Amino acid sequence: MTEETLAVLGGAPAFNQPLHVGRPNVGNVDRLFSRFREMLDRHWLTNAGPFALEFEQRLAEFTGAKHCIAMCNATVALEIAVRALDLKGEVIVPSFTFVATAHALQWQKITPVFCDIDPHTHNINPKKIESLITPRTTGILGVHLWGRPCSIDELQAIADRYRLKLLFDAAHDFGCRYNGKMIGQFGNAEVLSFHATKFINSAEGGAVVTNDDALAAKIRLMKNFGFSGYDNVIYIGINGKMNELSAAMGLTNLESLDEFAETNRLNFELYKKHLAGIPGLSLLNYDNVECPNYQYVVCQVEKSSAGLSRDQLIAVLHAENVLARRYFYPGVHRMEPYRSFFPHAHLLLPDTEAVAQRVLVLPTGNSITQSQIGKVCEIIRYAVSHSAEVGRALAKTA
Ligand SMILES: Cc1ncc(COP(=O)(O)O)c(C=O)c1O
Repeated sequence: MTEETLAVLGGAPAFNQPLHVGRPNVGNVDRLFSRFREMLDRHWLTNAGPFALEFEQRLAEFTGAKHCIAMCNATVALEIAVRALDLKGEVIVPSFTFVATAHALQWQKITPVFCDIDPHTHNINPKKIESLITPRTTGILGVHLWGRPCSIDELQAIADRYRLKLLFDAAHDFGCRYNGKMIGQFGNAEVLSFHATKFINSAEGGAVVTNDDALAAKIRLMKNFGFSGYDNVIYIGINGKMNELSAAMGLTNLESLDEFAETNRLNFELYKKHLAGIPGLSLLNYDNVECPNYQYVVCQVEKSSAGLSRDQLIAVLHAENVLARRYFYPGVHRMEPYRSFFPHAHLLLPDTEAVAQRVLVLPTGNSITQSQIGKVCEIIRYAVSHSAEVGRALAKTA
């Protein structure tokens, strides 16, 4: 690559079309259309339709969880799970997560108490949980970030010791295992997301998986307005149902799970090979993860060695039409309403603050080609090796 070809130095962008992070994985289109036709012929679009029930059954079989309740998205699934578990007062949660994790608590007037993360895994740091427990604490909401289970055993031990409920936001972790068991079987319940950006998507969708019969029955009522049968409402509820279009998409994509995982793995290996040795750049590896889904290619940028900050590198990539993303920046504790509620929260979250400054997520999935990945890496390598010039060019446009 020459200087002329780097867009921030005056060249043309490397890509005509944007390369997005989280571009949806799409499975077999013919099977999807045949399901859509079946659905239309049946005139059954929602309300416990056959595809939604089949999706729930497949998910329960796949995760090994006794119950699966499919929903319209993971945010509503989290809210319902939080309510069904009777969480109240304070719940301990990481701040380095998608804002929905904390909102699911705050929406129900439960205070999220932000816990710092382990800087190596980006997951909640179990060593920092106990000091946050108060008489008002009722639960822990762990998040398995980037398809990497959090320290489940340690969290369960703390939950048992203090008689707390344990819920997992497993939005990123579908298909992964922990100690030989599929994610979906841990804590009181786990919440999956099938949002368009996720490993397996149903356009929008989510699910609660649990081995607890009573909890599952309560959640089933809650996601359907509290109806226990025709004209019989026995509980306060909401509309959390998954529709048939989403379920058809979810079922179809589930059939391509192995293929998606393999494509993601190959993409990850390619990034690893091409980014190796670039100063100040490291990829979060999946070496200790059982059965990773590789859905996120997470890079960390150290300005002191790269010569460019994460945000400068993002500006370089965006100019080339590579829409790399900061993730979970600046941390939920720095978003409203939390930053007004807890203006000093950052003092207890040094690792969250540091990681939020250096994470850069690169495009992967089944719509990016190997040669595009090679080109993205070439841009990064060139930008870092010409960091002084690039820094000056960016300063002029700032
Ligand atoms: C960690 C995490 N939790 C929860 C959610 C919310 O999922 P949904 O979009 O299905 O509501 C997301 C992303 O969308 C997420 O990344």
